[in-house]
Amino acid sequence: MFELVRPQMDLYAEWLEAHREWGPGTHEDGFAIGQDSDVDTEQGFRAWVDRLHRDPGELWWVVEDGRVLGGATFRSLDDERLPRLGHVSYGIRPSARGRGAASWALGELLAHAAGRGVDPVLAVCRDDNVGSIATLEHFDATLQETKDDDGVRVRHYALSTARFRPLH
Ligand SMILES: CC(C)(COP(=O)(O)OP(=O)(O)OC[C@H]1O[C@@H](n2cnc3c(N)ncnc32)[C@H](O)[C@@H]1OP(=O)(O)O)[C@@H](O)C(=O)NCCC(=O)NCCS
Repeated sequence: MFELVRPQMDLYAEWLEAHREWGPGTHEDGFAIGQDSDVDTEQGFRAWVDRLHRDPGELWWVVEDGRVLGGATFRSLDDERLPRLGHVSYGIRPSARGRGAASWALGELLAHAAGRGVDPVLAVCRDDNVGSIATLEHFDATLQETKDDDGVRVRHYALSTARFRPLH
């Protein structure tokens, strides 16, 4: 069973194992690892986790049976990164892909957004990212525009959260 857990020291070993699987120099979508984050040492990891808890975005790790599979981020309306990065980001470690983890995590993010009254949710992905496009289309995402971002072709999608809206 998949679950979303907040970044925490308790999962340092499990997180590091996932991080090593992504490999050096790979951008780990959904994790908010900054260029100055020193996540390979316990002390650096602690500082990074502390920073995540102060980040204006909300971050979770996708966990299954204690194994860290991926990361998921929700950015709120007042986040200055919103226009470029969208409300949601997610990434799943290579060995856990193709099992529905990203779809499940995106569903959780959309439900979270609905609870916050955010509708629609903006998602941004590279024009050639077929896996992410399929994940977004799983939730009937509507393509808003395709444009250049620093030499990279990116797609902007809108996702309705109406079906996730809490019943009163
Ligand atoms: C994109 C990514 C998040 C998908 O994760 P995942 O857990 O494998 O996705 P799921 O198993 O939930 O699959 C979701 C849909 O995408 C499709 N899909 C996933 N990977 C695919 C691929 N490489 N090629 C084609 N379709 C793919 C699945 O078939 C599924 O389609 P369906 O809803 O029609 O059944 C994962 O490949 C990843 O982490 N990539 C690197 C980081 C990244 O690109 N993040 C998104 C940034 S915008």
